[in-house]
Amino acid sequence: MKIAIVGTGYVGLVTGTCFSEMGMTVHCVDVDSNKIENLKKGIIPIYEPGLEEMVRRNFDAGRLYFSTDLAEILGQVDVVFIAVGTPPGVDGSADMRYVLEVVHTIGKNLNKYILVVTKSTVPVGTAQQVKDVIRDELDKRGLSGLEFDVASNPEFLKEGSAIDDFMHPDRVVVGIENERTKEIMDRLYKPFTINNYRMIYTDVVSAEMIKYAANAMLATRISFMNDIANLCEIVGADVNMVRAGIGSDMRIGKKFLYAGCGYGGSCFPKDVRALIKTAENQGYDMRVLKAVEEVNELQKGIVYSKFLDHYNGDIKDKKVAIWGLSFKPKTDDIREAPSVVIINKLLEEGVKVKAYDPVAMDEARKIFGDRIEYANDMYDAVLDADAVMLITEWYEFRLPSWATIKKLVKEPVIIDGRNIYNSNELKKLGFKYFSIGGK
Ligand SMILES: NC(=O)c1ccc[n+]([C@@H]2O[C@H](COP(=O)([O-])OP(=O)(O)OC[C@H]3O[C@@H](n4cnc5c(N)ncnc54)[C@H](O)[C@@H]3O)[C@@H](O)[C@H]2O)c1
Repeated sequence: MKIAIVGTGYVGLVTGTCFSEMGMTVHCVDVDSNKIENLKKGIIPIYEPGLEEMVRRNFDAGRLYFSTDLAEILGQVDVVFIAVGTPPGVDGSADMRYVLEVVHTIGKNLNKYILVVTKSTVPVGTAQQVKDVIRDELDKRGLSGLEFDVASNPEFLKEGSAIDDFMHPDRVVVGIENERTKEIMDRLYKPFTINNYRMIYTDVVSAEMIKYAANAMLATRISFMNDIANLCEIVGADVNMVRAGIGSDMRIGKKFLYAGCGYGGSCFPKDVRALIKTAENQGYDMRVLKAVEEVNELQKGIVYSKFLDHYNGDIKDKKVAIWGLSFKPKTDDIREAPSVVIINKLLEEGVKVKAYDPVAMDEARKIFGDRIEYANDMYDAVLDADAVMLITEWYEFRLPSWATIKKLVKEPVIIDGRNIYNSNELKKLGFKYFSIGGK
């Protein structure tokens, strides 16, 4: 089976590479010619553990191709996956511009049967829109009889463990309209589901909803715990103990219960907003999700507030070390990262910032340019600092040499935005330690 993946970003590149790893011929297509030329030379545009070797192996084996020409590729493939971005529009709804561009190109160039699969996270009703646009383009070309199918196959991979998630999915959700589509999708995913992982077939609208509902539920757990953490601080409880206590309840489970400085990234914030907007367009008010979003926005400012309170508002010209810029560990993605909000607040108040992240420094440079300093490592970042803020819990930040840090900083103040340090240990060493909802 030959397939095309349109959009060669975090999702498209991982999806295409994993399908080729299973022996399929895959054409990864993108409008960004620079990205495509680099990929042909083995230069990977994103940081994702294990991806570079896998891309090279399959490219060298002649199973993985890179192109900017979707029109040409269409004649060579049986299935097209759409994996372009769906960023938030100005009103919070998903911006469908890129998806529609691809769909028009398909309709204008299709000459044989094809299955069109949306893998991008798209609002409910998109599959129908995709069908209408392609049908309309075919009608204009006098090809009304040409058959094609559409399916919705939302992606659940996580940046940082994307290859493993794709290769060993706990479920694959596919929204379909007929048996022909099911047979194709069964064949495509057979290599990944051989160990009895589940294929969940639904109608297309439900598949589209499943993706948003999943992200909305995970975001809700995070905001719920952040709300509890803030209350813990007021009443003198420790949210880490509360988490252990409730997470051991099988009905609740352990995951996504960590208090911190808010969720970020390219998915949760935009998908929560898009779902609120979808509901609004249908005349329905998503009250829970609005609160989830509100709590998250406030939470991104909490690390900053702790710093401000500690210095009684006198922070101008103070120096802050930021540990971690990506929205979570093991990725270079800083889209909607709490670090960006926190750094912007600090800069607005005349605070000097020196930041370090193991892989996201280049992405940060694109946003902050020379408005902040970039450190060579985590110790370089803390030199003469009035406070150290841990924003992203990369492994290398977990067990620092506090003795070294104590000698380097100006003031021994640690603000732990991810609750990874031991409060007693740090206090004994003479640090002022602040966490989120801890004691
Ligand atoms: N990043 C994640 O962790 C993740 C996880 C699950 C689902 N998703 C969803 O998957 C989709 C893609 O996300 P991403 O993070 O991979 O985005 P991305 O921004 O990393 O990549 C999108 C790519 O699409 C390309 N593109 C734009 N218009 C195009 C066109 N007309 N033709 C060909 N290529 C085009 C861009 O150049 C870019 O390379 C989004 O809908 C997102 O919500 C993302």
